[in-house]
Order: sequence, then C-alpha cells, then structure tokens
Amino acid sequence: MIVLGIESSCDETSVAVVKDGREILSNIIDSQIKIHEQYGGVVPEIASRNHIEAISRVAKKALEEAKITFEDIDVIAPAYGPGLVGALLVGVSYARGLAYTLKKPLVGVNHLEGHIAANYITHKDLKPPFICMLTSGGNTQIIHVKDYCDMKVLGKTRDDAIGEAFDKVARVIGLGYPGGPKVDKLAQQGQVTIDFPKTHFENLDFSFSGIKTAVINLNHKNPEINKSDLCISFEKAVTEVLIENITKAIEQTGVKTIVLAGGVSANTYIRGEFEKLENKSIKIYKPDLKLCTDNGAMIGAAGYYRYLNGNISTSVLNAVPNLKIDEI
Ligand code: KG4
Repeated sequence: MIVLGIESSCDETSVAVVKDGREILSNIIDSQIKIHEQYGGVVPEIASRNHIEAISRVAKKALEEAKITFEDIDVIAPAYGPGLVGALLVGVSYARGLAYTLKKPLVGVNHLEGHIAANYITHKDLKPPFICMLTSGGNTQIIHVKDYCDMKVLGKTRDDAIGEAFDKVARVIGLGYPGGPKVDKLAQQGQVTIDFPKTHFENLDFSFSGIKTAVINLNHKNPEINKSDLCISFEKAVTEVLIENITKAIEQTGVKTIVLAGGVSANTYIRGEFEKLENKSIKIYKPDLKLCTDNGAMIGAAGYYRYLNGNISTSVLNAVPNLKIDEI
C-alpha cells in the first residue's frame, strides 16, 4: 500500500511516499529554517505563505523520486494537528484537493503519532506495546502505546516543552535558532559543573521552566561563564527528569520497551543516557536521526496504521491546532 504523507505543521513542508507503513520511497523536506532564523523563531504567517509556495513543488518531487504517479497512491495522509493552524491548513487543503480529484481515501494524521511512527520506519521489528518518550519543540509527553492506534498519555509537561527550553537557552546564550542542535554541539565540549534545580511531581508530569530560568539567570549574572559547561549541565538536568519519569512509567505499566520520538530525541546526551538504561529486560529504540524532526515519511507511516484501523476522514477534514494524542 502506497501512502502519501504530508507534513506542514510548523516550518517544514514535507511530502513522502511510504510503502506499507515501513519503507520510505521518498521523503522530500523543504525547510524554512533560513527564513525564520533572522526572527529568532518561527513566524506563523510567514510559515503559512511559504508552505503554500512550496507544497506542489515538494509533492511533485516526492513522486518523481519514488518513481510513481498520482494514480499509484492508495491513501493520502496529511498531518492535521497539533501545530500552527495556518501552516496545517496548507497541507490539509492540498490533501483534500488531491483526495477529491484522485478519488482516494483521505486519512488525517495526528502529528505526534507521526513522531512515534518514525520508529516503525527505523526499526522494522518494533511493534506495540511500548512506552514512548516524546520530546519535541511543542510537546513533552510519556505515552503508553498499547497498540498502533490505541494510546494513553501517562504524563506531560505543565509548562514549557523540552524543545522550547533548548531553544530559549540557546537564544539567551547567543547561539541562535533553532537552538537544540547548537546546544547539543556546544555541550559536547563541556563538563558538568552546575547542579540545576529540578521540579518533581507525584505523577508523571514534567516542568522545564524552572531549569530554563535557572540557566538564563546564571548566564545573566555571570556572562563570562563557560557556555559548553552551561549547556551540558542544562542537558544533564533535563535528562535526569526524563529518566526519572520513564523509570516510574516502567514500574507503573510493567512495559519494558522504551521508544524515543520527536526533534529533541536527536540530542546526543539524551540518546546516550537512555542507552545506559538498556539491560537484559529493558529495550531502548531511537529513531533514525534524519527522522527525529518533522518529515512527511513519519506522517505516511502513521497514516498507514490509521487507514488499516478504518479511520478515514471526511472530505471536510479541518486543521486542529491543539489536537491531543488520544484524539483522532
Ligand atoms: O519534532 P520537531 O521537529 O518539531 C515539533 O514537532 O515540535 O522538534 C523541533 C525541536 C526544536 O526545539 C529543536 O531545537 C529541537 O527539536 N532539536 C534538538 C536537537 N535537534 C532538534 N534539541 C536538542 N538536541 C538536538 N540535537
């Protein structure tokens, strides 16, 4: 089965051709990072306009690279939330038009499910049930993936998403946007010298704003501070919180397969610390680095399982900017 995955929730216009939910035939990503860099973050209106300009070109390229035509597509699967409403609408409207013209099923995909599904492409043996540690620019959640289309959020951030904290720290210390990869790089030359305060909850929720503010205040009071040490100390603090909660999730559910997902799961330090959890009974899966951040292939993979589950959208599918993981 050939699924056309369409992603436009933030600043990447991406269209992919995915076979049977696990194999990428093409995955074209047109990033707007260069455009938004000068503003220090994504400007929603500019993002929407650039998606409109890019979407047909990116789709055409995806078909060419996969060596297929529009007629060969079985399912059209756009991400319809969560994300920036104007940006999402571009992918959703394009998909609606295609589905109507080609008389093919339209399957709206939750962008967060897409991040999880990036792992189905990377690891052909991976099947639910598992616990997903989803860490991205807009979300931080622990999700119990009971089946491909049956998920329950066990805990989530009460304030900043972890990616937001990375981006804010990067901006304050002058690294620019997007900050996560830059903090990652700089941290690799540093030593952990600072013990930042962490917020703990009874349940599996997170808070990153305290750690973020502590990093920013320290940098403000002490501008000469070694930035590499600051970055790795920040990474250590946020990773400890992730590991603490994932350990609780394992105890609570008895599920010992852990899957990382989302843009921040590309982080070298976080990947390394999760690897250390692996033992005879605990198995850790990490997405391919190229599939951590937003892309159409992950949407196509999730769309495949939604289609098999019978979740066909109507022709008036709309963008849902605050779509939750357990909604479809
Ligand atoms: O998953 P994603 O592409 O967008 C959302 O769906 O939210 O994630 C983007 C986020 C940004 O905050 C970016 O700074 C962060 O992922 N990121 C990283 C790394 N690569 C991307 N954060 C830390 N280390 C990285 N290597």
